[in-house]
Amino acid sequence: MTGSVCIYGNPVLRKKSELVTAVTDDIRALADRMLGIMYAAEGIGLAAEQIGQTESVFVLDVPARVDQDKEGRPNNPGVKMPQVFINPEIIGASEETAVAEEGCLSFPELYVPVTRPAEVVVRYLDRDGNEQVLNAKGLLARAIQHELDHLNGVLLVDHMSVVAKLKNALQLIKLKKQSRENL
Ligand code: NI
Repeated sequence: MTGSVCIYGNPVLRKKSELVTAVTDDIRALADRMLGIMYAAEGIGLAAEQIGQTESVFVLDVPARVDQDKEGRPNNPGVKMPQVFINPEIIGASEETAVAEEGCLSFPELYVPVTRPAEVVVRYLDRDGNEQVLNAKGLLARAIQHELDHLNGVLLVDHMSVVAKLKNALQLIKLKKQSRENL
Protein backbone atom coordinates (compact mmCIF):
# COMPACT_ATOMS: atom_id res chain seq x y z
CA MET A 1 0.00 0.00 0.00
CA THR A 2 3.01 2.32 0.23
CA GLY A 3 2.40 2.82 -3.49
CA SER A 4 -0.31 5.28 -2.46
CA VAL A 5 2.24 7.52 -0.75
CA CYS A 6 4.20 9.95 -2.94
CA ILE A 7 7.92 9.24 -2.76
CA TYR A 8 10.79 11.74 -2.73
CA GLY A 9 11.24 13.09 -6.25
CA ASN A 10 7.51 13.63 -6.81
CA PRO A 11 7.14 17.41 -7.32
CA VAL A 12 3.92 17.57 -5.27
CA LEU A 13 6.01 17.07 -2.12
CA ARG A 14 7.57 20.51 -2.72
CA LYS A 15 4.18 22.25 -3.01
CA LYS A 16 3.04 24.58 -0.28
CA SER A 17 -0.37 23.72 1.05
CA GLU A 18 -3.40 25.97 0.69
CA LEU A 19 -5.58 26.94 3.64
CA VAL A 20 -8.86 25.07 3.94
CA THR A 21 -11.69 27.62 3.72
CA ALA A 22 -14.37 25.38 5.23
CA VAL A 23 -14.26 22.02 6.97
CA THR A 24 -16.68 20.15 4.75
CA ASP A 25 -17.54 16.47 4.32
CA ASP A 26 -14.99 16.45 1.48
CA ILE A 27 -12.26 17.54 3.88
CA ARG A 28 -13.34 14.91 6.41
CA ALA A 29 -13.29 12.29 3.65
CA LEU A 30 -9.77 13.42 2.70
CA ALA A 31 -8.63 13.13 6.33
CA ASP A 32 -10.19 9.66 6.63
CA ARG A 33 -8.51 8.54 3.39
CA MET A 34 -5.19 9.86 4.69
CA LEU A 35 -5.60 7.93 7.95
CA GLY A 36 -6.34 4.75 6.01
CA ILE A 37 -3.24 5.16 3.84
CA MET A 38 -1.14 6.05 6.89
CA TYR A 39 -2.24 2.95 8.80
CA ALA A 40 -1.71 0.72 5.75
CA ALA A 41 1.84 2.07 5.47
CA GLU A 42 2.36 1.68 9.23
CA GLY A 43 3.17 5.34 9.69
CA ILE A 44 2.35 7.64 12.61
CA GLY A 45 1.73 10.75 10.52
CA LEU A 46 0.80 11.78 6.99
CA ALA A 47 0.41 15.14 5.26
CA ALA A 48 -1.90 15.86 2.31
CA GLU A 49 1.04 16.43 -0.08
CA GLN A 50 2.08 12.84 0.51
CA ILE A 51 -1.04 11.64 -1.28
CA GLY A 52 -0.81 14.30 -3.97
CA GLN A 53 -3.16 16.86 -2.40
CA THR A 54 -2.44 20.45 -1.40
CA GLU A 55 -5.00 21.11 1.32
CA SER A 56 -3.49 22.24 4.62
CA VAL A 57 -4.27 18.97 6.39
CA PHE A 58 -2.23 16.39 8.22
CA VAL A 59 -3.16 13.41 10.35
CA LEU A 60 -1.36 11.78 13.25
CA ASP A 61 -1.67 8.69 15.35
CA VAL A 62 1.21 8.75 17.80
CA PRO A 63 0.71 5.80 20.16
CA ALA A 64 1.09 6.78 23.82
CA ARG A 65 3.22 3.69 24.43
CA VAL A 66 6.00 5.06 22.20
CA ASP A 67 5.68 8.65 23.40
CA GLN A 68 7.05 8.49 26.92
CA ASP A 69 9.69 10.28 28.96
CA LYS A 70 12.75 8.58 30.42
CA GLU A 71 10.75 7.41 33.43
CA GLY A 72 8.15 5.80 31.21
CA ARG A 73 5.46 8.41 31.83
CA PRO A 74 3.34 9.47 28.85
CA ASN A 75 4.55 12.77 27.36
CA ASN A 76 1.08 13.88 26.33
CA PRO A 77 -1.50 12.38 28.68
CA GLY A 78 -5.07 13.06 27.68
CA VAL A 79 -4.36 13.62 24.00
CA LYS A 80 -6.65 11.33 22.04
CA MET A 81 -5.51 9.65 18.84
CA PRO A 82 -5.91 9.76 15.92
CA GLN A 83 -5.92 13.51 15.40
CA VAL A 84 -6.75 15.53 12.30
CA PHE A 85 -5.02 18.91 11.97
CA ILE A 86 -6.55 21.40 9.53
CA ASN A 87 -4.80 24.75 8.84
CA PRO A 88 -2.27 24.03 11.61
CA GLU A 89 0.01 26.80 12.81
CA ILE A 90 2.74 26.72 15.43
CA ILE A 91 2.10 29.61 17.80
CA GLY A 92 4.74 28.78 20.40
CA ALA A 93 7.93 26.76 20.67
CA SER A 94 10.33 26.01 23.50
CA GLU A 95 13.90 27.30 23.40
CA GLU A 96 14.94 23.86 24.55
CA THR A 97 15.61 21.59 21.60
CA ALA A 98 15.75 17.84 21.22
CA VAL A 99 17.39 15.62 18.64
CA ALA A 100 16.03 12.28 17.45
CA GLU A 101 16.01 10.15 14.33
CA GLU A 102 13.05 10.73 12.06
CA GLY A 103 11.67 8.60 9.31
CA CYS A 104 9.14 9.56 6.65
CA LEU A 105 6.80 7.50 4.48
CA SER A 106 8.07 9.52 1.49
CA PHE A 107 11.64 8.39 2.25
CA PRO A 108 11.39 4.63 2.83
CA GLU A 109 14.18 3.18 4.95
CA LEU A 110 15.85 6.54 5.54
CA TYR A 111 16.37 7.78 9.09
CA VAL A 112 17.82 11.20 9.80
CA PRO A 113 18.67 12.84 13.13
CA VAL A 114 16.73 16.12 13.31
CA THR A 115 17.01 18.85 15.94
CA ARG A 116 13.75 20.62 16.73
CA PRO A 117 12.15 22.57 19.60
CA ALA A 118 11.30 20.06 22.34
CA GLU A 119 7.81 21.50 22.89
CA VAL A 120 5.39 23.34 20.64
CA VAL A 121 1.98 24.92 20.84
CA VAL A 122 -0.11 24.32 17.73
CA ARG A 123 -3.38 25.96 16.77
CA TYR A 124 -5.58 24.18 14.23
CA LEU A 125 -9.09 23.21 13.26
CA ASP A 126 -10.19 19.72 14.19
CA ARG A 127 -12.28 17.30 12.10
CA ASP A 128 -15.44 19.12 13.18
CA GLY A 129 -14.04 22.53 12.24
CA ASN A 130 -13.55 23.63 15.85
CA GLU A 131 -10.46 25.63 16.73
CA GLN A 132 -8.09 23.79 19.04
CA VAL A 133 -4.85 24.73 20.77
CA LEU A 134 -2.59 21.86 21.75
CA ASN A 135 0.58 21.89 23.84
CA ALA A 136 2.74 19.01 22.73
CA LYS A 137 6.05 17.58 23.75
CA GLY A 138 8.07 14.45 23.07
CA LEU A 139 7.33 12.46 19.94
CA LEU A 140 4.01 14.23 19.38
CA ALA A 141 5.77 17.64 19.24
CA ARG A 142 8.28 16.20 16.79
CA ALA A 143 5.60 14.61 14.61
CA ILE A 144 3.60 17.86 14.48
CA GLN A 145 6.70 19.77 13.32
CA HIS A 146 7.58 17.08 10.77
CA GLU A 147 4.08 17.15 9.24
CA LEU A 148 3.98 20.95 9.27
CA ASP A 149 7.22 20.88 7.31
CA HIS A 150 5.43 18.81 4.65
CA LEU A 151 2.68 21.44 4.39
CA ASN A 152 5.44 23.99 3.67
CA GLY A 153 7.15 21.75 1.10
CA VAL A 154 10.03 21.04 3.48
CA LEU A 155 11.31 17.45 3.54
CA LEU A 156 13.50 15.18 5.60
CA VAL A 157 16.33 15.62 3.09
CA ASP A 158 16.40 19.35 3.94
CA HIS A 159 17.32 18.46 7.51
CA MET A 160 20.24 16.30 6.45
CA SER A 161 23.80 17.47 6.97
CA VAL A 162 26.18 17.52 3.99
CA VAL A 163 27.82 14.41 5.41
CA ALA A 164 24.48 12.64 5.82
CA LYS A 165 23.49 13.58 2.26
CA LEU A 166 26.73 12.11 0.94
CA LYS A 167 26.31 9.01 3.04
CA ASN A 168 22.77 8.49 1.72
CA ALA A 169 23.36 9.78 -1.83
CA LEU A 170 22.77 6.43 -3.50
CA GLN A 171 19.57 5.81 -1.55
CA LEU A 172 18.28 9.30 -2.43
CA ILE A 173 19.05 8.79 -6.13
CA LYS A 174 17.30 5.42 -6.01
CA LEU A 175 14.19 6.96 -4.46
CA LYS A 176 14.09 9.75 -7.05
CA LYS A 177 14.44 7.25 -9.89
CA GLN A 178 11.72 5.01 -8.45
CA SER A 179 9.50 8.03 -7.93
CA ARG A 180 9.90 9.20 -11.55
CA GLU A 181 9.00 5.74 -12.79
CA ASN A 182 5.79 5.85 -10.77
CA LEU A 183 4.70 9.29 -12.04
NI1 NI B 1 7.14 12.76 6.40
